[in-house]
Amino acid sequence: MKTYNIAVIPGDGIGGEVIDAGLHVLRAAAEVYGFEVSTEHLPWGCTYYLEHGEMMPAGGIDTLAGADAIYLGAVGWPTVPDHVSLWELLLPIRQTFAQYANVRPVRLLPGLEGRIKGKGPEHINFVCVRENSEGEYSGVGGRVHRSFPQELAIQTDVFTRAGVERVMRFSFELARTRRNKVTSATKSNAGRYAFVFWDEIHAEVAQDYPDVETEKWHIDALAARFVTHPETLDVVVASNLFGDILTDLGGAIQGSLGNAASANLSPEHVGPSMFEPVHGSAPDIQGQGIANPIGSIWAGSMMLDHLGETEAARAVMAGIETLTARGETLTRDLGGQASTMDVANAIARTVREVEVGA
Ligand code: IPM
Ligand code: MN
Repeated sequence: MKTYNIAVIPGDGIGGEVIDAGLHVLRAAAEVYGFEVSTEHLPWGCTYYLEHGEMMPAGGIDTLAGADAIYLGAVGWPTVPDHVSLWELLLPIRQTFAQYANVRPVRLLPGLEGRIKGKGPEHINFVCVRENSEGEYSGVGGRVHRSFPQELAIQTDVFTRAGVERVMRFSFELARTRRNKVTSATKSNAGRYAFVFWDEIHAEVAQDYPDVETEKWHIDALAARFVTHPETLDVVVASNLFGDILTDLGGAIQGSLGNAASANLSPEHVGPSMFEPVHGSAPDIQGQGIANPIGSIWAGSMMLDHLGETEAARAVMAGIETLTARGETLTRDLGGQASTMDVANAIARTVREVEVGA
């Protein structure tokens, strides 16, 4: 039987709760579709940091390198500065393994009301591709004259031709599997170096895809368009920070940030790809078993798809859709009363039924 080795990093806060829910569904899918999921649990994160002074052990990256995929919950906790926790765990993983395409579907699931008057599931169905390796997250800069009146901080965005080109190509290829349209998020009016460069490469790559309709759109106007005309979007390609901001907005128009899923893909297989919900560790509801696991279960479906278990991936997605369409077993953020594991159990049950009926 085919066995997939999954490195599991539950991380902090509700991360562990939603990952348990996700693994429960993955195991159901594995049983039904005839493969095995072998997990290695890595207890890295802020609790680990408080004990060991580091977010993951030296050699942590090498441990991950051997996995078929990484399944991550959430990273960050109030007792550790965010720029430490993120720069010692999540961001090095994305960068080291060249997970340059962060794919984040923005889809209002059937049965959910959403938050925009008059916009249902037929209007909200697009994908954001967030550049995930450089740009505003390059980590270049420094601080000078600390604690003096002239104290200064410099943070430099880094855009490379190779980095922009590969994420553009990825987005155009993805559009070919969808509705053939790419919207590039820019700010080349004010950002006269980096975003003019971004636009130039967008235009160059577009020439290789004459069959794909494309446009560039300033980020501020595009944010508004997410709310006013989401049905005009198919694939949105954005720089690291723009994509970060847009996808929280995307989560909101999906009815809840808890629904939003993401795949950090390493298209050239420099290392394993990583799958995670878009939301964070949510300290306010941690430990109560009420977190919405749809984003992490959806990320699990994206992981199955990536591993080549297409049917299983579809069954998990169908399980999520059946759950929201029925509207009975929903967590509080979606107006229900169900617990995290109630949702996981309901989806796992459907995954098993789907096969029985097939
Ligand atoms: C995300 C998160 C991260 C990001 C944080 C936690 C560094 O917000 O995955 O969207 O900004 O990339
Ligand atoms: Mn974010």
